[in-house]
Amino acid sequence: MPERLAEETVASADRTVPCRVVVCRDCCCGTVKVDADHAAQTARLREIAPVRISECLDVCEQANVVVVQPSTAGRAAGARPVWLGLVNDRDATEDIADWVRAGGPGVAPRPDILDLYLIEPPRRTPTPS
Ligand code: FES
Repeated sequence: MPERLAEETVASADRTVPCRVVVCRDCCCGTVKVDADHAAQTARLREIAPVRISECLDVCEQANVVVVQPSTAGRAAGARPVWLGLVNDRDATEDIADWVRAGGPGVAPRPDILDLYLIEPPRRTPTPS
C-alpha cells in the first residue's frame, strides 16, 4: 500500500467512533431511589462499549436513564441517540448490551423488547456526550 494511502487509511480509522453508551448517575439514577445494582449495570455495559457517566439528564422520573449513541456508521445511516428509561434490571441491561454489541442504532435493528424502555429526551436536551 502506498505510504500516503496507508496514512489516509489510519486517519480515516481514527475518525471512526464506535457505538457508545451514556449512563446517568446523579441525583436519582444510580442512587438508592432506584432499586438496581448500579455498579453491576455500569460494569456490564463497559464490557461491551465505551461508557460515560453523566450528570442528571433531566428525566429523573425515568431513572435509571441510559442513552445509546450511534457509531460513526450508525450516524451515517441517519441514526440519532436512543434514550432509554427505567433501565433497572439485569435483563434490560443485557438487552442493551446485546444491541450495542450488534452495532447499535443505525447498524443493528433495535430489539423489540427495548421499545418498552424508549423515552423522549427532555425538551432542553442535555448533551450526553
Ligand atoms: S439523575 Fe438521571 S435523569 Fe436525573
